[in-house]
Amino acid sequence: MTEGALETGELAAGLALRHPTPADHVRIRVALADWWGGLGGEAGARQRQSLVPRLFLQHFADTSFLVERADGTLHAFLIGFLSQSDPDTAYIHFVGVCPDGTRSGVGSALYRRFFALAQEAGRRRIRCITSPNNRNSIAYHTRMGFRLEPGDYVDEAGTPVHRDYDGSGLDRVLFVREL
Ligand SMILES: CC(C)(COP(=O)(O)OP(=O)(O)OC[C@H]1O[C@@H](n2cnc3c(N)ncnc32)[C@H](O)[C@@H]1OP(=O)(O)O)[C@@H](O)C(=O)NCCC(=O)NCCS
Repeated sequence: MTEGALETGELAAGLALRHPTPADHVRIRVALADWWGGLGGEAGARQRQSLVPRLFLQHFADTSFLVERADGTLHAFLIGFLSQSDPDTAYIHFVGVCPDGTRSGVGSALYRRFFALAQEAGRRRIRCITSPNNRNSIAYHTRMGFRLEPGDYVDEAGTPVHRDYDGSGLDRVLFVREL
């Protein structure tokens, strides 16, 4: 992918972008189990699946994206929405790129699409969160220009973490990026 394509959020030839539908739910669930390199084991896979129920594909479809290969198989997805409660904010809830498609500009192309969509809707910042053990996600978001919000403690990797953010034992790292 060329530099220009990354800036405009274009995808390489053979990859097609569209909004997801509820019919994509089953394969997104499979991706949530398989694409994270076994992060968190079985419990991690189940937790990720439970974080993307069908409702996202019913009620947040037009702010979410899905990338398919020419043969129709799933290559990547982004689940995002415009905050209902904060008119300045848009939120990226989940992103995934298939393991043999990472580090080729697809994640950043999806993010740029979402940034443009959010900007067009008058949003001024993007927020998202991740788990402290997802080092790939932390590296990726930092590279994509996100700032890490100060937390309750700093972990051994120097990352600020919010303890029990999503419940007991569910620590999270918070990102924000101004548009
Ligand atoms: C994290 C993820 C979404 C990134 O998507 P991607 O398509 O691989 O990222 P890109 O190729 O667009 O990379 C964008 C930039 O981030 C950097 N980057 C991406 N993954 C990185 C990693 N693991 N470590 C360090 N830098 C990384 C790239 O080098 C690139 O920087 P550059 O422009 O200087 O080359 C993807 O790897 C993925 O889905 N991984 C598995 C699931 C996961 O962990 N998702 C995290 C979100 S919850």
